Amino acid sequence: MTTTHEAVAAAERCTPEFRRDPHAVYAHLRDSAPVCPMRPPHGNETYLVTRYDDARAALSDPRLSKDMYGAMDAYRRIFGDSSVALDDNMLNSDAPKHTRLRRLVNSAFTPRRVEALRPRIEEIVRDLLDECPARERFDLLPAFAFPLPIIVICDLLGVPPEDRTRMQHLSTTVAQTGFGEEAKRAQQQAEEGLHAYFTDLLTAKRERPGDDLLSALIAARDNDGGLTESELVSTAFLLMFAGHKTTAYLIGNAVHHLLSHPAQLRAVREDPELIRAAVEELVRYDGSVESATFRYATEDVEYGGTLIPKGALVQIAISSANRDPRKFDAPDELDVRRPGNAQDAHLGFGHGSHYCLGAPLARLETQLALTRLFERFPRMALADPAGAPRWLEVPFPAFRGLAELPVVLDPAG
Ligand code: HEM
Repeated sequence: MTTTHEAVAAAERCTPEFRRDPHAVYAHLRDSAPVCPMRPPHGNETYLVTRYDDARAALSDPRLSKDMYGAMDAYRRIFGDSSVALDDNMLNSDAPKHTRLRRLVNSAFTPRRVEALRPRIEEIVRDLLDECPARERFDLLPAFAFPLPIIVICDLLGVPPEDRTRMQHLSTTVAQTGFGEEAKRAQQQAEEGLHAYFTDLLTAKRERPGDDLLSALIAARDNDGGLTESELVSTAFLLMFAGHKTTAYLIGNAVHHLLSHPAQLRAVREDPELIRAAVEELVRYDGSVESATFRYATEDVEYGGTLIPKGALVQIAISSANRDPRKFDAPDELDVRRPGNAQDAHLGFGHGSHYCLGAPLARLETQLALTRLFERFPRMALADPAGAPRWLEVPFPAFRGLAELPVVLDPAG
């Protein structure tokens, strides 16, 4: 990688080389153009922020709005028309609307409420591992990493078990589309499918409420006027969407990196208490959300000596911030005993008022998944230890995750 221009182009096109090692590109950008205008199709209207201090400040800067509707003109100029039917939620709003929407679901995700889910998560992990083949090579992602968070979030929301596969399929289509016409059509169809699904499910729950989060939200809507019908459907979608892929990819990345760093895995095995710190380090080292969702400049803003003009979109590269040597010593090393890697040191779950609502749940799921997997299969290994991992090829901004994770749980001999 030689020029800034090439670095930005690689990030935008998300070339296989970039997927394999985005960190070399980010290192270049942090040093040469830490707040960098991106090229078409983004135009000069999107700025990429790559240093830790800038990223942390930008994530909580009130001048950088998350209001999807306020930013609609900028979105349309850059991405064309897009449906916002599912976007009327906390992630796409500023205070006071953001505060109101987040408060309604916040209580379901407090550390205490999440801790109460521990026995059920343990049970799901055990059942999934029971089904995995011990001696054969198989892909851990569809067998374990994906079903775990899908089952947990569907249970929590009250989505019936028979609909889980459909949910997974539709939200995968929504997440994995690019700029092409065909991709856009598929995305729109999937969004319409999810909208229709949640509208019907909410109607059914209004008639027969259950002991679940969606029924509680309906009560908030109907009794207190807590949220509009559009906000209700969009909140259901956000929780489903944000609640599973992120965690599934993190579990996959974490298993891959621990199996590739035997000394780190040994440390976690020898000291089970270390699992909490290890998960934080794994989120820092190679978390599943590569870039925060867009912000939109409501006025001219200066970052790192670069002017971001009013109306521009801002993209914050979380993966880059988490490897910034200005913040972390030896950032490219995985160190589960890294001193001071507290939960809020890295930006893997964001920062500020939009800090990940589901972080306590994601942490618990990942801690239990890794602990039980390595405890039960102490000889587990990558099926292709010498082969390069295959990373997802999705447009930027995107999730950071593996396309497959072939392993053998209990190799013979
Ligand atoms: C927001 C990461 C799991 C629900 C965010 C943000 C990040 C993030 C970076 C901030 C986005 C921004 O500011 O643009 C992750 C990662 C996860 C994970 C890495 C797993 C490893 C979950 C889970 C849920 C969840 C399990 C549960 C339902 C949310 C919601 C928001 C959010 C609702 C929006 C919060 C707001 O706007 O106030 N997440 N997330 N996430 N996350 Fe997560």
